[in-house]
Amino acid sequence: MQPIKSPAFFLGREEKGLISFGSGTPDLPPPKEVFKVLPHYHAFKYGLVQGQVNLRTDLSKEHPGSNFNDFVITNGASEALDLSIRYIAQQGGKKILIARPYFFAYPELIELAGMKPVFTDLVDGYIDLADFAQKLEECDGAIINSPGNPSGTVQSHKTMREIEKLSKDLDKWIISDEVYKDIIYVKDNYQLKGNKIIRVDSFSKTYDMTGYRIGYIYSKNKDVISNAVQMKSATSLNTSILSQQMAHAATKVHKKYVKDHIKIWKKRRDYMYEGLQKLGLETWKPDGAFYILAKMKNPYKVMMDLYYKHKVVVFNGEWFGAPDKIRFSYALDIPEIEEGLKRLKRYLRK
Ligand SMILES: Cc1ncc(COP(=O)(O)O)c(C=O)c1O
Repeated sequence: MQPIKSPAFFLGREEKGLISFGSGTPDLPPPKEVFKVLPHYHAFKYGLVQGQVNLRTDLSKEHPGSNFNDFVITNGASEALDLSIRYIAQQGGKKILIARPYFFAYPELIELAGMKPVFTDLVDGYIDLADFAQKLEECDGAIINSPGNPSGTVQSHKTMREIEKLSKDLDKWIISDEVYKDIIYVKDNYQLKGNKIIRVDSFSKTYDMTGYRIGYIYSKNKDVISNAVQMKSATSLNTSILSQQMAHAATKVHKKYVKDHIKIWKKRRDYMYEGLQKLGLETWKPDGAFYILAKMKNPYKVMMDLYYKHKVVVFNGEWFGAPDKIRFSYALDIPEIEEGLKRLKRYLRK
């Protein structure tokens, strides 16, 4: 049995009969308008490093108070996070606060930028504001992720407003990772504003376009934008011009597409949550995104057994700073969820 050290082991892996509650890749197709671009698009030269003007203009229409100069189009939210974190390091930043359990890439990105992650523990998925505020004082900034991966929680407006105020009063950077902002079941999400707010988002989850790698930074801070473009000029240059035109086509169907998909995600969320409850697993009901954390002893062994003996993928909670949990993604259809839960039941019975 080959050891499994990170989510990268499972990314892009397809095996017959495998049920994957692993990576957060939606199985639903992107809007069909996206594919209409393909037969007609013949551009092939370098594009603008900051991103094509039509896509940035689309985004400015979705973000009141913005204009197309406030965006940088990136290779997914992943590059947007990397550029934002490195920007803070360039400004002399040493420590970044993150809420635990966290998206697995945060600590590594912070360390790659030469900084140190500092942790504040979520309480049943929610930010403990007193602890957050106290720890933010010793840090240069924080990353907020609402709706969260792997928590599935949406932070309250009160919490988000308080964080916005802390950013202003303490003069701290806040990177707001909003890749799940359109996948919310219970309440709306509050979007942070301010001179030290860097919003990171992508087309991966909203439009089911993970493989096309379109993300972006949105900030009203001109220095953030110009530095991100400068760094990108030395690393990846422009984001795929073809994918940007596919994203441009996707924005034309935003509202209806998102609304229809929420119904599907919500059904899956309910099915998954109830299924895990019936198996007696301790979980909380997600407010958004498409992940559920379940309490489990020895998550590494559970992940290995489930994959090698039952052909089921789950993620080790240790990767997310939750060593007493496993993470399920429910980005798969109900018959597959049903089969996966059956296999899980068989395993747990043993
Ligand atoms: C919280 C969070 N941020 C960022 C990303 C990266 O997204 P992208 O595919 O846009 O790079 C993911 C992907 O799963 C995620 O869950």
